[in-house]
Amino acid sequence: MEKTFRLGIIGHPVGHSLSPVMHTTAAQITGINLEYDPYDVPPINLGRFVRNIRETGIDGLNVTVPHKVAVMDHLDEITVEAERIGAVNTILREGSRLLGANTDGYGFVTSLVENAKVNPAGKKIFIYGAGGAARAICAALGVMDGVEAVIANRTVGKAEELAARMTAAGASATALGYNANNLVDSVNTADIIVNTTSVGMKGFASDALPALEGIRQGQLVVDIVYRPLVTPLLRRAAVAGADTLDGLWMLIHQGAKSFELWTEREFPANPVRERLLRELGETI
Ligand code: ATR
Repeated sequence: MEKTFRLGIIGHPVGHSLSPVMHTTAAQITGINLEYDPYDVPPINLGRFVRNIRETGIDGLNVTVPHKVAVMDHLDEITVEAERIGAVNTILREGSRLLGANTDGYGFVTSLVENAKVNPAGKKIFIYGAGGAARAICAALGVMDGVEAVIANRTVGKAEELAARMTAAGASATALGYNANNLVDSVNTADIIVNTTSVGMKGFASDALPALEGIRQGQLVVDIVYRPLVTPLLRRAAVAGADTLDGLWMLIHQGAKSFELWTEREFPANPVRERLLRELGETI
């Protein structure tokens, strides 16, 4: 009999995750046996749950909020990329050894290259936000040739920390607060603008991002928020004549990389996207 991959996602909460639908759809299309379950694990139970997957026979896990950093203490090995990001979103069990990887930065860069046909190397990139998602994105951009990053965050200290991390890794990065007087200019002179904050997400703060008047034709504007698929930022960018890229592609490519690590099979990105659009209630 063919192997059944036993996979899942740990988070707290995990109810809204698209990962179970994403991976079971990919498995059906690929023709492999795969179970993918959501596990709501409160922080206090994290260590025990992760250590036990050696006995419970789980082959791999995705890790989401709030466990991406804390889970690192319970693994045997961390990939260079996950170490650089300082967080793990994918666990791979190899016998009794647990390997931690991070596919978020890969997912972001791949969505730009494959879906927007823009290579971030050599580009000036304006990033809203300095939280966990921004860390993964900046770590991936920081190792690309000639990227010039400007990180703007409501809490400027977090942007400064992230810019310092990038600079220490040999990349070019500066930090700005939302009240900086050159904010509009920095948006206007960027090639790529990325929102990594929860602003625009359904059910979250209805605040607007600052300095959007700087957006113009010739730029690529990316939102990693995918609920709704067309965020207020992307709508505004389209009106200004900029190109846009939605956050569902980043989600798909990070999942694709995890799927390929676990199963060594290619991930069917296009049909999975159609399935996820239906799941989100978005028309194709
Ligand atoms: P994630 O892991 O999704 O990145 P996070 O680490 O909690 O989540 O980071 C959330 C990001 O969204 C931060 O950059 C946060 O800004 P602060 O560092 O100033 O908190 C940003 N964010 C969340 N709500 C916001 C709001 N209403 N206005 C502006 N920025 C907001």
